[in-house]
Amino acid sequence: MKKTGLLASAAILGLALSSGPASAEVKRTGAGSASAKPKTAAGAATGDPLAWQNKALSADARANLLVKAMTLDEKLAVVTSYYGTQGDWNQYRDPLARLQSAGFVKGVPRLNFAPQWQTDAGSGVATQGVARPDLQRTALPSGILTASTWNPDMAAKGGAMIGAEARASGFNTMLAGGVNLLREPGNGRNFEYGGEDPLLAGTMVGAIVRGIQSNRIITTVKHYAFNDQETKRNTVNIMIDEPSARMSDLLAFQIAIERGNPGAIMCSYNLVNEEWACQNEWLLNKVLKKDWGYRGFVMSDWGGMHDTVKNALHGLDQEAGVQNPADYVYREKLKAAIDDKTVPVAVLDDKVRRIARSLIASGAADDVPTADNPIDFTAHEKVAQADAEEGIVLLKNDGHILPLAGSAKRIAIIGGHADVGVLTGGGSAQVYPRGGSAVSGEGPKNWPGPHVYAPSSPMKALQAERPDASIDYASGRDLAEAADAAKKADVAIVFVTQWTAEGMDFPLTLPDNQDAIIDAVARANPNVIVVLETGGPVLMPWIDRVKGAVEAWYPGSKGGEAIARTLTGKVNPSGHLPATFGRAATDWPRATIDGAQYPEKQVFDVRFTEGAAVGYKWFDKNGIKPLFPFGHGLSYTSFNQSGLKAAAKAGTITASFTVRNTGSLRGKQVAQIYVAPVAGGWEAPKRLGGFAKLDLAPGQAKSASVTIDPRLLGMWDDKRPGWTVKAGKYRVTLAASATDPGTSVIVAVPASHLPAGRGAGK
Ligand code: BGC
Repeated sequence: MKKTGLLASAAILGLALSSGPASAEVKRTGAGSASAKPKTAAGAATGDPLAWQNKALSADARANLLVKAMTLDEKLAVVTSYYGTQGDWNQYRDPLARLQSAGFVKGVPRLNFAPQWQTDAGSGVATQGVARPDLQRTALPSGILTASTWNPDMAAKGGAMIGAEARASGFNTMLAGGVNLLREPGNGRNFEYGGEDPLLAGTMVGAIVRGIQSNRIITTVKHYAFNDQETKRNTVNIMIDEPSARMSDLLAFQIAIERGNPGAIMCSYNLVNEEWACQNEWLLNKVLKKDWGYRGFVMSDWGGMHDTVKNALHGLDQEAGVQNPADYVYREKLKAAIDDKTVPVAVLDDKVRRIARSLIASGAADDVPTADNPIDFTAHEKVAQADAEEGIVLLKNDGHILPLAGSAKRIAIIGGHADVGVLTGGGSAQVYPRGGSAVSGEGPKNWPGPHVYAPSSPMKALQAERPDASIDYASGRDLAEAADAAKKADVAIVFVTQWTAEGMDFPLTLPDNQDAIIDAVARANPNVIVVLETGGPVLMPWIDRVKGAVEAWYPGSKGGEAIARTLTGKVNPSGHLPATFGRAATDWPRATIDGAQYPEKQVFDVRFTEGAAVGYKWFDKNGIKPLFPFGHGLSYTSFNQSGLKAAAKAGTITASFTVRNTGSLRGKQVAQIYVAPVAGGWEAPKRLGGFAKLDLAPGQAKSASVTIDPRLLGMWDDKRPGWTVKAGKYRVTLAASATDPGTSVIVAVPASHLPAGRGAGK
């Protein structure tokens, strides 16, 4: 890129900063004024380099003082993260880094500014690669399971639990908060994310982030943005128009950021509209920092940087995850760019200020974590179990085969290693649960493998729940043996698994001939229940031949107990799908994920032609009948939703309604509000506008009301940047899934316009 272009970028950055306190500081300090004495901040006039530690000052004032007290080399240290793990391939192995972790940023000991100890990920404290000994920690269920709870309070509790383990393990930065939309059902990282809808994903992931940060530490929201496939993730160039971008993945990020207030954003590996995300001026400086007014810092995904000057000027604050000193993009190269004035020192100051501010505002800078503190695993595993018990989805329940009847005395459990454990997802998010993996020697030997099973056996848990029954296990490796076990039983429960992981994408067909096992079992016994442990949607060619199906995702440290209690009815299932399950790969916009055929370094395009019509919006728009729709989830009781009223108020719609438990068991229902302009004209026939999860005793009724985020009534308007809500009639529907016709009312809404950064919840 030409120099003029880069200087123009710096000017945009200056503009982007001109609205908040940080910008005032940029203007005050100017280039090269690191030693100028601050005039306004209390305690600073003394020139005391430790004045930033004065807790009576605001986080902004303290961050400014810290930046002023730092030398250039100290600033460069704060914008550089090293690998933390002790793997042989890691050339740093800094003695201060905490073992098994992803990142380490040197602090500034002279100024009492602590290092940043960074650990993955969204389901708990991870162990990098196959680093040994593994750091055993509580595995919260996968992100997609937590999204399936549709219960932000539950998500916040889970976040608080994993954040507490991060702090107790000596980490002040979690690399959690994955909120990429499920556009590709085969994306290997869907298990880490919050599903296909921007409101649901943003709300649930924002709640996890809030929970994590309640421990006086920070977390990221990641991977910004459009990192919706893993295949050739470093070279895939995602092409998407701005309105579609703003109304889909970016809206999920925006909502998660508003709700969770994360200390950092991790930019992604891929290119977006022909520029790498971590040096993408539009994504970082324009959308994130200017339009949304984001005040935290941007860290790169591990090794996701390309060009020192572009990274620096286009909004990347901290470089992370380089394995070889020669590959560094910041450090010496950034110093040289500052020396020759290609990058103004004020730009570096802004990066350091953002990092310092996040750590100070969260409490992490004052309350520095120490490693190896005791963890109450029993209490934490209860949190993981409660999450699993609200997020497991009962997909199908013909003839009330579930909960298991007392008369089912002979139960055959088949496959999925259900005798010993439950599956977890692989890659950087890999948590090694307490007790280590229940299965060894399966899957890739090296990262992102191997397959790790939490030692929480559904079979043993079921035996504990049902001491009156005889419960036997067959591995499922031998079809005849599986059929034989089924034949001898009153009911057969087949466990099927689909391991997914970072760095790869996966077919939608279950691996290892598992469809054939279900077929063989279904031929042998009419009473078959399938329990799925998958990372996302899979195809179920056998669905009509089984009576029950339960999606347990990766259910975490106590997943076996949660599954058993769901099967027996101790837990009344209340999870609802955060993503559509199709009948064939061709139901989605792209039947296969592109990229495998290209050479390593070749950039290639993937055009998101579906735009913002992601998931159920795509299915709806194209009249495709899903296998199980977004929002679907059965219960052992029944509910009636009624009394829908909706009114236009303050530029949006508030809907109220009543839900009654019409059955004989206590249960939770997720009431869903969908919205659409009567005249059409949106990217899809309707959008999720709000939801409420209600806990109801038998016969009990509760009323609830939801206010629709006004952005969900509008279309992104390129001409007048912001959200334009058209005057007209809107249909508001109260339903139990995206395909449930439910009941509707029509509301007239006046025209309005919302600026890019302002919406509900800010
Ligand atoms: C992943 C990130 C992760 C980082 C550090 C990258 O490969 O994409 O999600 O936080 O590694 O482990």
